Amino acid sequence: MGGAIPVVDPIPLPAPVWLFKFLDLLVLALHFCAVELLLGGLLISTAWALAAYRNQDSVLRNARGAVAARLPIVTAFVINLGVPPLLFTQVLYGRALYTSSVVMGIFWIALIFILMFGYFLLYRAAAPSGNGKLGFWLGVLACAALLKVAYLLSSNMTLMLRPEAWLEMYRANPHGAQLPSGDPTILPRWLYMVSGSIGIAGVGIMLLGLKRGLGDEVRLFMQRWGARLAAAFIPIQAGVGYWAFQTQPQGVREGLLQGAFNTSLIGVWAATMLLLTLLGLAGGWGASVRRALPMAMAAASFGNIAAMVLLRDAIRDLTLAAKGFDVWQRTVAANWAIVSLFFFLLVTAIGFVGWMIWVLTRMRETEERYA
Ligand code: HEM
Repeated sequence: MGGAIPVVDPIPLPAPVWLFKFLDLLVLALHFCAVELLLGGLLISTAWALAAYRNQDSVLRNARGAVAARLPIVTAFVINLGVPPLLFTQVLYGRALYTSSVVMGIFWIALIFILMFGYFLLYRAAAPSGNGKLGFWLGVLACAALLKVAYLLSSNMTLMLRPEAWLEMYRANPHGAQLPSGDPTILPRWLYMVSGSIGIAGVGIMLLGLKRGLGDEVRLFMQRWGARLAAAFIPIQAGVGYWAFQTQPQGVREGLLQGAFNTSLIGVWAATMLLLTLLGLAGGWGASVRRALPMAMAAASFGNIAAMVLLRDAIRDLTLAAKGFDVWQRTVAANWAIVSLFFFLLVTAIGFVGWMIWVLTRMRETEERYA
C-alpha cells in the first residue's frame, strides 16, 4: 500500500520535524478556537435572529446583534490562523495532502470562493439592515456556506489519510470534480467540530456578556444562555467524539489507547468536557453568574481543544504509518539561520499583536444597541 504514496520530495526539511509539528499544532489549536467561535456564533445568532423577529424581543435582538457584529472579526482570525497550519501540514505531509487536494481539486479550489461568499454574508448580517428577518436569512445562507467549507476541510484531511483510495478516484475523475465517499470517519469528524462549536461559542458569548456597554439585561441573558448552550452541547460533542473514535480502523484505536502520553490526552479531553458541562450547569441555572466562571470555562475550552488537536495528530500519524508513511523519517537539513530569522519575526509580530490587544483593552467602553 506504501506504493500509493508518491516518492519523497528531494528537498530536505529546513528544520526538525518536532519544530514544524510544534508550530503546526499550536497554531492549529488557535485556528480551531476561532473556527468554533465562528461556526457556533453563527448558528446561535441565526437562531436568535429568528426568535427575536418572531417574539419582537429587544433583549434577544441586542444579543444577536452583539454576536453578529463580531463574526467578521472572528473570520479574520479563522483565516489568518488557518494559513500557517496549512503551510506546516503541507511541509510535513505534502506527499499525502497535495495528492488528496489534487484528487478533489475542484472542490478544494471552490473552498476559497465559498469562504469569500460566506464572509461577505457575515458582513451583510452584521450591518444594521441585517437586524430582523433579513438577518435570519443572511445567517442561514452564511451557515450553509461556512458549514460547507468545514465539510470540505474534513473531507480533505481524511482523504489525505487514504492513499489506497487516490488512484481509483483519480481514474474515475481526473479533473478532481469529486468528493471522497465511503469513508466512515468524515461525518463524525465534521459533526464533532460543528456540535462542539455551539458549546464553545456559548463560552465565548458568556465572555462577551461581561462587556458593560451591552446593558444589564442583555448581559445576563448572554451569560445565562451561553452557559446553558455549553452545558447542553459539550456532552453531545463528547458523544460524537466517541463515535469518531469508533469509526477509526482497529490499529489506530489500539494505538490511541497505548502509551502514557495518549492516555493522558484522552484523560485531559474527558476531564475538560466534564468540567465544562458542570460549570455550564452552574452558570446556566445557578443562583448567580460570577465573573470568574466564563474565564475558567474559556481556559477549560482551550485545554480541551489542545488535547483534541494532539489526538487528531496521533490519528493522522498512526493511520499514515500503517500505510508506509512515517513523518519522523523525513530527511532534515536544518538551516538555523533561516529558523532564527523566522523566530525573530514571529516574536516581533506577537509583540505587535500584544500591543494592539493592550490598546483595545484600554479603549473606553461605548454603549452597544442593536434593537
Ligand atoms: C470559515 C472558514 C473555515 C472553517 C469553518 C474551517 C473549519 C475547519 C475544520 C472543521 C477543520 C477540521 C477538519 C478535520 O480534520 O476534520 C479545519 C482544519 C483545518 N483548517 Fe480550517 N476552516 C476555515 C478556514 C480555513 C482557512 C482559510 C485555512 C487556511 C488557509 C484553514 C486551514 C485549516 C487546516 C490547515 C486544517 C487542518 C490542519 C491539520 O489537520 O493539520 N482553514 N478547519
